[in-house]
Amino acid sequence: MAELLVLVSRLVLVLTSCLLVSSYGQTCTWHEAAVPVASVECRHTSSLLTVHYDTAVTCEQDLSGKNLTNAPTVSWRNGHSADIYLLIMIDPDASTPCKPDLRYVIHWAAFVSPSNVTYFLQGSNDLRITDEFISYRGPHPPEGTPPHRYQFFLYRWVPEITLLHPTFLGNDNSSRFHFDYDQFKAVNRLEHLEAFFEFQYSR
Ligand SMILES: *[C@@H]1O[C@H](CO)[C@@H](O)[C@H](O)[C@H]1NC(C)=O
Ligand SMILES: *[C@@H]1O[C@H](CO)[C@@H](O)[C@H](O)[C@H]1NC(C)=O
Ligand SMILES: *[C@@H]1O[C@H](CO)[C@@H](O)[C@H](O)[C@H]1NC(C)=O
Repeated sequence: MAELLVLVSRLVLVLTSCLLVSSYGQTCTWHEAAVPVASVECRHTSSLLTVHYDTAVTCEQDLSGKNLTNAPTVSWRNGHSADIYLLIMIDPDASTPCKPDLRYVIHWAAFVSPSNVTYFLQGSNDLRITDEFISYRGPHPPEGTPPHRYQFFLYRWVPEITLLHPTFLGNDNSSRFHFDYDQFKAVNRLEHLEAFFEFQYSR
């Protein structure tokens, strides 16, 4: 009887889990998919970055089919122009959210600073790139996998720290895979997460 109950509760869990289905019918649930490791809480609107490709993007929007070749414009209304921030964009769901064996893929990393005071007073606060040390590369998940999440994180930089570049800054493209985000945060003392954003994309 107990076994039956366990079986039934498992069935219910599977049926009620959010199904991730790809265009090729590949299926997994978020339950089976690794837990969201660096989760973005889209309800915290005061901490959301504003991301513009050709149009404004909303947090968690599915941008499948859009041309994301060029880096977006990113802005943040709470920035202080005296501060330096580090913007990072990662894919936690490579090669597929069902089996994120390449986690993380790093898509972009740059020092940014809020636009100058004039801009700020005009109500716009685009983040200006001051040093792009990992060039932007648009989403390019394997064809047919369920949508990947693309996550942006903005950290306040502690000026006394010298950035310890991750080892992959050579020319080997494949080394964008397996980016050790936790280690990168630790060695660079990225402790002040200020804002974030996430969209989804599949091919
Ligand atoms: C996407 O945009 C880039 C840059 O504007 C352009 O070079 C490229 O041809 C576009 N790709 C498609 C499939 O439209
Ligand atoms: C500040 O922003 C304004 C508005 O775009 C621009 O005209 C001006 O050149 C900028 N000043 C500096 C120092 O970047
Ligand atoms: C990395 O990728 C770029 C663009 O796809 C390509 O031009 C370049 O040759 C690649 N570099 C290496 C070392 O594979």
